[in-house]
Amino acid sequence: MKILITGGAGFIGSHVVRLFAKKYSNYQIYNLDKLTYAGNLENLSDLQSFKNYSFIKGDITDETFINKLFLEHKFDSVIHLAAESHVDRSITDPLAFAKTNILGTMILLNAFKNIWNGQWENKLFYHVSTDEVYGSLGTTGLFEETTSYDPNSPYSASKASSDHFVRAYGETYGIPYVISNCSNNYGANQFPEKLIPLFINNIIQNKSLPVYGDGNYTRDWLYVIDHAIAIDLVFHKGKNHETYNIGGFNEWKNLDLVKLLCQNMDTKLGRPLGASEKLITFIKDRPGHDLRYAIDASKINKELGWKPTVTFEEGLSKTINWYLENTIWLNNVTSGEYLKYYKNMYLNS
Ligand code: NAD
Ligand code: DAU
Repeated sequence: MKILITGGAGFIGSHVVRLFAKKYSNYQIYNLDKLTYAGNLENLSDLQSFKNYSFIKGDITDETFINKLFLEHKFDSVIHLAAESHVDRSITDPLAFAKTNILGTMILLNAFKNIWNGQWENKLFYHVSTDEVYGSLGTTGLFEETTSYDPNSPYSASKASSDHFVRAYGETYGIPYVISNCSNNYGANQFPEKLIPLFINNIIQNKSLPVYGDGNYTRDWLYVIDHAIAIDLVFHKGKNHETYNIGGFNEWKNLDLVKLLCQNMDTKLGRPLGASEKLITFIKDRPGHDLRYAIDASKINKELGWKPTVTFEEGLSKTINWYLENTIWLNNVTSGEYLKYYKNMYLNS
């Protein structure tokens, strides 16, 4: 089986590529990635000698290139993760999100439709999406697979639109597909623009910890390896034309999570307890900030037997250790362009 994984040099994609390349020596895994600021081949340096793994540098929005690639390789399946993924960047540059997340997904769908042209046996288009498509919850309730889409940011609107196109290609052209909508991931190799790695890096450097608004926003955190395990299960056992919600059963208010992170970092860095908490600074809120996300993951649990395997305490500790042990990775990704991004985002407001 030839599987195209898009966005495999990014955070979640690199864990999915590793899991598949290691577990399925009989599959050929092709990792297609544009290597934007978020893509990093260092994330996969351990797979260089794997015979069932190859990297292809390319852009999913380049229609000519994608059509040629699909004709050449005739991929049996696609696991599509490539995306612009950061909400704050979508507020600054919404068109980039529409291009990659909507148009890029359509170009992949079209290429897949055209090469198989109705011969769908053992073929699958797996679209990896987010819980943000459902919008925001109040203080109670959970997102179910049947919850109406109600996106609030350009990022979530672009992901919602891409989900709709996947479904539309399924209904109209009969493409076999599955979609999963997952909550916030954390773990090794996450780009330090997202809350947890950004704050770990800032604590290491004794820089302020910019909490948006009053910090009373809630997210449902899942260790990235558990997401990769869920993707493996949905890919192999998920029902055609179905959606699966994936979540951590692990809700945290941002401020409580940041305080827990500070305590852990103080212990690991040998700093007096309370030192990192002093770095917390409340700053202007994110526009359109969703109050709360929380996933009802009972469908994937009941139908496919999935549940998270790593507790938050364990996952957070492993994540902090990874960043403390991988200072070269961290320094490489936080030099150059990152400094400009950081200044625009946090120092000009
Ligand atoms: P990421 O930003 O770390 O990685 C995205 C990858 O896509 C990068 O390697 C980048 O180079 C690549 N890419 C971007 N534009 C491309 C293009 N035009 N052509 C080819 N490659 C391109 O993202 P992530 O956090 O790993 O998220 C992966 C997927 O999972 C996304 O689709 C995201 O919406 C979804 N998701 C993320 C989370 C989360 O918490 N991070 C949760 C649920 C769903
Ligand atoms: O829910 C899944 C989504 O989770 C994914 O689809 C997205 O790709 C991923 O980026 C993530 O989106 P969030 O916006 O929830 O994640 P982020 O890490 O950017 O922010 C988490 C919370 O922390 C959110 O309430 C905003 C807040 N925050 C974030 C940053 C970067 C801060 O208070 N300060 C910050 O500097």
